[in-house]
Amino acid sequence: MERLIAGAMSGTSADGVDVALVAISGRGVDMTTRDVGFYHNAYSADLRATIFNLRAGKPVPLAELARCTRDVSLAYSTAVKRALASGGVDASDVAAVAAHGQTMFHAPPDTMQIFDPALLAAEVGCAVVSDFRRADCAAGGQGAPLVPFADYVLFRHPTRSRVLINIGGIANLTFLPAGGSIDDVVAFDTGPGNCISDDLVRRHDPGDLYDLNGLGAANGYPIGEAVDGVLSHPYFAAAPPKSTDGPAMNDIFFQATKQYLGRGFLDDLLATACVITARSIARALPPADEVFVSGGGVYNQTLMAKLADEGIRPRPIEEARADAHPAFKEAVAFALLGAATLDGLPSNVPSATGARRRVVLGSITPKP
Ligand SMILES: Nc1ncnc2c1ncn2[C@@H]1O[C@H](COP(=O)(O)OP(=O)(O)O)[C@@H](O)[C@H]1O
Ligand SMILES: [Mg+2]
Repeated sequence: MERLIAGAMSGTSADGVDVALVAISGRGVDMTTRDVGFYHNAYSADLRATIFNLRAGKPVPLAELARCTRDVSLAYSTAVKRALASGGVDASDVAAVAAHGQTMFHAPPDTMQIFDPALLAAEVGCAVVSDFRRADCAAGGQGAPLVPFADYVLFRHPTRSRVLINIGGIANLTFLPAGGSIDDVVAFDTGPGNCISDDLVRRHDPGDLYDLNGLGAANGYPIGEAVDGVLSHPYFAAAPPKSTDGPAMNDIFFQATKQYLGRGFLDDLLATACVITARSIARALPPADEVFVSGGGVYNQTLMAKLADEGIRPRPIEEARADAHPAFKEAVAFALLGAATLDGLPSNVPSATGARRRVVLGSITPKP
């Protein structure tokens, strides 16, 4: 039987909430999907600034954290309601919203996503599945990455091995061996995606979100020493399972580039950030028949050019599945994770998170 689930995701780049309204049939790794609609609701400039202040560890009153949790939840409800409206769908037809929440901190085994599921349930008028990472952490895992379950469900291939790269704030990859089982999946965060570039742009002008189309980086000259300095950090050589967070990666970058900062070389630093992201992905890439890319990083043309310089020419994720959307792959993934939770089936991938066992993820808030 087909059930409608709204997958809702806001990543570490804190650009806003992506919603994928997905009709899901089947169970577990045999689920199939039919996309009903996508919607992106950008966070307000104020909310984004609060999130980044909190994430940077700046002293912020608890009142602001509480308020931020409410604002994040309302941004989720606006996004879901608009996705429903644009798909012509009534909330009573939705089995659940599967909501990730906003990551404020991630250093396994500690991880924190802020979100109020009761508020979302009340605003939208349906059940909510949330807090997906905790059960995996409780089972000894990193609580991340969780998307590999959906990557396996949607993108596995009987005769071709595939790597799926997703470049958001953080970059991660999922390796799906040809004809493999879910236990054969290898997945981890390779390191920074756009987080360093976004942070540089924001420091330069708090009103700017990112290096539009990578134009700044295209004008810059990468600082080789800084690239080497960052990539010599033990995170990059560490064996998986491993996962990280934007502030941790930004910190490594700023330690390695202290002497270059504040000297007006923004474009050079942006170019440096692109090379760091591209090279860390290239070094982590397992050999595979096909490589696909998704996430907001696909819109940074300089980053894509730097990947090509490193010998990787990933194909757009749409070429793996015609219905895949580069900006909504993770929102669709959370819809699938939510469906598994409602079915009482495990959806962590222990080979990716390092958990001791397979567990059912998430907490269910009933329909009000
Ligand atoms: N037109 C664009 N030019 C350059 N970068 C872009 C563009 N659109 C999106 N991005 C990048 O993608 C990021 C958002 O990607 P996303 O996949 O949503 O990441 P996350 O999951 O961390 O929120 C932005 O922060 C920005 O770095
Ligand atoms: Mg995003």
